Order: sequence, then C-alpha cells, then structure tokens
Amino acid sequence: MEFARQLKDNIDIVQVVREYVPSLKKAGTRWVGLCPFHQEKTPSFGVRHQFYKCFGCGAGGDLIKFVMEMEGLTFWEASKQLAERYGIPLPKRMDAPDEESRRRAALFEMHEIAQKLYRAALDSHAGEPARNYLAGRGVKPALASEFGLGLSDPSGQALTRQFQKAGFSAQQMESSGLVLARNDGSGFFDRFRGRLMFPIHNESGKIIAFAGRAGREEDQPKYLNSSETAIYKKSHVLYNFHRARKAVRQSGALILVEGYMDVIGLHGAGVEHAVASCGTALTPSQARMMRRHSENVVVNFDPDPAGAAAAERSIQLLLEEGLHVRVLTLPGGLDPDEFIQENGVESYRELAAKAPRYFEWLADRARERFDMRSAEGRVAAFKFLLPAIQNLPDKIERAAVADDVAAQLGVDKGLVLEQFRKLAVQRSPRELKPAPVEMPPNERLLIRCLLESEEARAAALPVWNEKNLPAQPATTRILRAISALQAGFSYEQLDARLEDDDRTLLARLVFADTAGSESDQTFVGDHTAAQAIDCLRVLEEAERETQRTNLKARIANAERQGNLDEALRLSQDLERMDAGARRRRPAGVE
Ligand code: UTP
Ligand code: MN
Repeated sequence: MEFARQLKDNIDIVQVVREYVPSLKKAGTRWVGLCPFHQEKTPSFGVRHQFYKCFGCGAGGDLIKFVMEMEGLTFWEASKQLAERYGIPLPKRMDAPDEESRRRAALFEMHEIAQKLYRAALDSHAGEPARNYLAGRGVKPALASEFGLGLSDPSGQALTRQFQKAGFSAQQMESSGLVLARNDGSGFFDRFRGRLMFPIHNESGKIIAFAGRAGREEDQPKYLNSSETAIYKKSHVLYNFHRARKAVRQSGALILVEGYMDVIGLHGAGVEHAVASCGTALTPSQARMMRRHSENVVVNFDPDPAGAAAAERSIQLLLEEGLHVRVLTLPGGLDPDEFIQENGVESYRELAAKAPRYFEWLADRARERFDMRSAEGRVAAFKFLLPAIQNLPDKIERAAVADDVAAQLGVDKGLVLEQFRKLAVQRSPRELKPAPVEMPPNERLLIRCLLESEEARAAALPVWNEKNLPAQPATTRILRAISALQAGFSYEQLDARLEDDDRTLLARLVFADTAGSESDQTFVGDHTAAQAIDCLRVLEEAERETQRTNLKARIANAERQGNLDEALRLSQDLERMDAGARRRRPAGVE
C-alpha cells in the first residue's frame, strides 16, 4: 500500500488519464471529459485531487484503479506498469505478485516465448516460402518485423517443447490458449501449426493473443485465433489499437477495416490509424475504445455482401455509441490492402478524405432502391432511413440529420416532423441522469474549502464539531466523513466513506460546477481557512435565526396564555442571545 501512495504522489493522474482519454480538457481547476466507462454526449467525467470520478455512471478511483479498469489489469500489474512507465523504482516487495497476477504473468511470458519462436521460424531457412509470400503481397521485412509477424512450426511440437523446457505446468499450458491437450491425455501439441502468425496486443502494447493465417487455400479455417484466456477477451480488443491510438491525433479519425492484412497494408503505406476487430462482429466496448481517442470513424469494409452486412451492423453500433461515421467504399470491389497495392496510397487518402457521412451514403443507397421521381417513392426512401436516424443517441443531432436527409431526398419538412412525433412516443429515454440535489451555496463553498486546504480543515472542523451546527443532511454527512478522516484526508478516502447519493453530490460539487461561480475562486492557505470559518459563521447565524424565531413564537404563546413569568424569562433569553451576537460581530459591522 505504501508503494501505491508513492505512485500517486509522483505521477500526475491527469497525464495518465489523458493517454486513454485525450479529449480531457481543463475547466477551471479540474479536468473534464467524456466518460470512458459509459456512453454519454455531455461530459460527466472529471479528474481532480489525484482522483477520477464520473457522476453519470458512478465510476471513480485513483490512477491505479483507472489503469486497472482501462486495461483489465490486477492491482499489482497496474502498479508495476505505472512504475515502469514513469521510472519509479520498484521496491523489493513488488517481486511477489498476488496469485492472480502470477497466473497472468505466466500467460504474458508464454506469449513472449511464443512470439520469439514464431519470429525466429519466419527468419529461418524453413521460413523462406512464408517470406516470399509476404514479399509477394508487398510486406517488406521491416514491416513484417514491426508487426511481429511470424511462422508456427508445422509439426505442432516446437512451442509445446519450449513451454516444457521453461517449466510451465500442465495447467499453465492449458490455460495459455496456445497449446491443446491430446485426447488420450498423453500431453500437449501446438494450437497453431504451419501458419503465418499475427500477434495481437492490448492497449499498452503487450502481446495477449495470436491469429494464424493458413498458408494454403485448402487449410481451414483461413484464420485461426487464440481462444479467450485470462488476458485475452476478444470483445475488448482491436487489432493495431496500441499503434493506431498514437496516429489518430494527427488524422483526427480512426479507420475501421475488416482484416489484419488491411491494417498492415495501410500502415506500410503510411496510413497508421487503422484498426480491425479480431475476427468477430464489432462490440460496444470496442466502439467505446475507439471513441475515447476519436469521435470520428471511417468505416472501410470489403465491398462483398458479407463485408457490407458486417459494415451495416458495425455502423449501427458505432452510431449508438455516439460516434460520427463516414463510409469509404473502394471502387473495383477491392479491399483496402488490394486497393493500395493497385492504386497507391495517395488515391486512397483522397477517397478517404471525400468519404461521405453515413447518412449521406445511406441516402444514396435509398435513392437507388426507390423511385425518386414520385412523392410516394421519396417518402418511402425517407421511411427506409428513419430507423437508422432514430438510433442516434443525441436528440439534437437526430433532428438535424433528419432535416438533412429529408432535404437530400426532396421530402417535405412537415412530413419529417410528423414521422418524428410518431416515433418519439415509441422511443425510451436512454440516459437518465440523477436529479440534481440542491445544496445552499454557503454549504457548497464550505465543503470545497475543506477539500482544498489542510489549513481550512484544521481551522474549521473543530469549530464545526464543537458547535454542532445544523446544515442540510447531505452536507452534515459529508462534513462528518471529512471530520472522521482527520489528518489522513484524501479525496479518495472521503469518497469511499460516502453512500452513492452523497458521492454523486460530492463529485458534482468538485467536477461539475459551472465556470465563473464560486467554484473557480482560487483557494490558497489561510485565505481558504478564513473562508471556511466565514461559512461556519453563516451557518451559525442561520441557526441563531431559527432559535430566535422559535423563542419569539414561544414568547407570544406564553403571553397569549397569560403566563407572564414564562414570557419574561423567555424574553430575557432572547435579549441575552442578541447581546451575544452583537459581541461576536466584528467592530464596525452592524
Ligand atoms: P479476410 O478474408 O478479408 O482476410 O477476412 P484478410 O485479413 O484480408 O487477409 P487476406 O488478405 O485474405 O490474406 C477479414 C478478417 O476476418 C477474420 C480475420 O480477422 C480477417 O482478418 N477472419 C477471416 C477470421 O477470423 N477467420 C477466417 O477464417 C477468416
Ligand atoms: Mn485481404
């Protein structure tokens, strides 16, 4: 735990988060962006005090937790990765990972061993046909090396032997997804045999799986993929994502293609921001991975019917996840790799730059299908497009796109509105935000001061505890939690102590304040402490006001009942109270 503290003190969480969420922006004293953990249009995700928090979905934690969640790592792995990345020396204790990390470390190691073996085989004498094949497809040795391409041993023994030599247990071998148990229980054999090997990496660039392409047409399947393991969840992985995420910044978009060879061909030609799913239909978490790095995707699938169907499904999903989609169709029935080989990268870039937005592209499809000369045909075309438009998560964008499409198709605006009204009723709300809880400005300011400054906590908390000043229930709960943390205060500890509703409230207070309000005042040392004390005075004053009102009511009541002794006694109380308040007020203020 001590080491975790050290990491948190030495690494800026903003820097870490921005690697995964480059759109994170500074807003006042906090960093705000679209949440990487759920689908949203307006930012609810913020980073501050070495802590991230989303008040939309409730995700929150420190930088180690962030990396754990983003990459599916254990605590030990995330700590180690951060330490290595930021050059913080690992203490001796870090040599002893927990059980799960040890299991996973063995898997990573086995993939490294496999990678070395496959690489060496491609470079060896036996690798000559495979090297020729790659050369024939325009994959130069440097490109093959950059993508770590390799060759698996046709006999199915080489990798199993390496694993045995390295001392991996039967159980470890079985869990690696790289070798298979013989039916008769007499041992293992390699899963990939005589195939061209493509390593698959996680977001930080570690090998977590392989795909193997058959060398001959008759070998089926054409591509064989690793089975899922503790380190490989295929729905969370995109081929080439760790490289593409670096290139995406310059290009402002990601390109989604179908095949490994497409990615490699594009990269070789200098188009470095292409990714592919690994032999499965695109999943929401892959769409979300993409959206973290760019809101814009160019979908460039094969033009065959299978490719078109896959493109359609993927596009729907991308739109639902809030991405802006453009569609790139290459002429001549070519896939991206073939197209570049034949026409060069410049024509590819030109076509990519001109790729129509999905709805324009779809309107073109509709125009081909319906008779656009008649009003009925145009309406039918519009209705054909409507379900896709309805899937857009954002209301305003939905209306804008509908208008655009209607204009393109020459459909009357009134009809668009009518269709929308009909469908709006059927549509269920997607993003329900918790209702905002009102907290008086004074109490907000007080909490903010206490969060910001050690001096403020030291000055104000004893006063608050002693006087037991009433405030809103949520404020009281938060103040109690801060108070209980004493010197060991951290935002994270505080968050951990609160119930969900209060957490949300606190996160809002910290992250979601609008600029220009009290939230953007700078808090510094003594000044903040003084401010906190002022806030307590306001609470105290409010409490006194309540008591005065009560007393006055009781006096009036006693007088009405003819109980003059009681009325007099209560009046004296009231007088004493007012005198006390006058004494406490600073000189000159009345
Ligand atoms: P393609 O057949 O288009 O492969 O399948 P490719 O990558 O372009 O390779 P070449 O150019 O034919 O050599 C597209 C993708 O579909 C998955 C793979 O991810 C492949 O890259 N796939 C295809 C499989 O998972 N299994 C298969 O049997 C075939
Ligand atoms: Mn291909």
